[in-house]
Amino acid sequence: MAGGQGTRLGHSGPKGTFDIGLDSHKSLFELLCDYLKEEAAKYNVQIPWFIMTSKENNHDTIEFFKKHKYFGYEKNIYFFTQGQLPMIDTEGKILIGEDGLIKEAADGHGGVYESLLKSGMTDKMKELGIEWVFIGGVDNCLVKMVDPVLMGIAIDKHVTAAGKSVVKANPHEKVGAFCKKNGKPSVVEYSEITDEMAEATDENGELLYGESHILCNLFNISAIERMGKEPLPYHSAFKKATYIDKDGNKVVPDSPNAYKFEAFLFDAFGEVDDMAILRVKREEEFAPVKNASGVDSPETARKLYNDFYKKK
Ligand code: UD1
Repeated sequence: MAGGQGTRLGHSGPKGTFDIGLDSHKSLFELLCDYLKEEAAKYNVQIPWFIMTSKENNHDTIEFFKKHKYFGYEKNIYFFTQGQLPMIDTEGKILIGEDGLIKEAADGHGGVYESLLKSGMTDKMKELGIEWVFIGGVDNCLVKMVDPVLMGIAIDKHVTAAGKSVVKANPHEKVGAFCKKNGKPSVVEYSEITDEMAEATDENGELLYGESHILCNLFNISAIERMGKEPLPYHSAFKKATYIDKDGNKVVPDSPNAYKFEAFLFDAFGEVDDMAILRVKREEEFAPVKNASGVDSPETARKLYNDFYKKK
């Protein structure tokens, strides 16, 4: 999933084009591609890579890949674009964008299932004989997309979805936590969990909601097809959006003025009866790049990446 812009990072292009500052100055896309090439050689198989862009960054993403000759992986790369939803102002009115059309924004990474279906990617996958699909975020430079253990666990437990978790660093770490909601697998997001829930512990003193959802999930293609047909709830986010006012003037706000609506990938987990969760080591699989400095920044990701690859 590479539909996001690196806004929080202060990066102006698609997030996958971000250089985390390694000596090689490789982008997130190239780091992920290096890993795929390594795994493809290890298992002597072709590993297709389906990259979800958004309307906002699709052109720039494809140009970036062209410029870098697809990192030598062109025949295995497929691009598809996620959907969009209208943005509204604080009075509930739909905004008009600079192009004179309804102002829209990416529909959140929950749009991944529907977009895979609508773009014909699931058909392509079936044509290629693919049965299991790993879905992860482009912003984790240690994402392990090829994991026979995770797939083995899913098959062994007869489930059509599996996810990886790391133990929360502290009760208030900004990550979602795996949980069950009405008996179905789910994730309680960090912005929606109460302090009481975040701090609750079990009889062993472990956090009750301590298995972080790190956006590393594996799905059987049948689950994707099912999820892609079901509507998901929308979560709203208050953002800055440039628009055209009723007099035809362009308005560039300096503070948030509009709501965008996003579906979250994990809201679809309830579509599967159960999910296998594999707890993995943070230092081996989770090095997200979210903020310009501090936690989950290029600096922390760089350190995790260098430590992991030097260790190998
Ligand atoms: C997300 C998860 C959180 C998880 C954390 C792990 C949500 C709401 N929360 O938080 O549970 O613990 O990651 O790192 O997702 N993306 C798209 N299209 C979109 C929006 C996002 O492709 O419309 C992609 C981004 O490019 C990125 C990934 O999804 O690769 C994560 O998105 P982001 O918005 O950064 O999620 P977080 O709020 O950090």
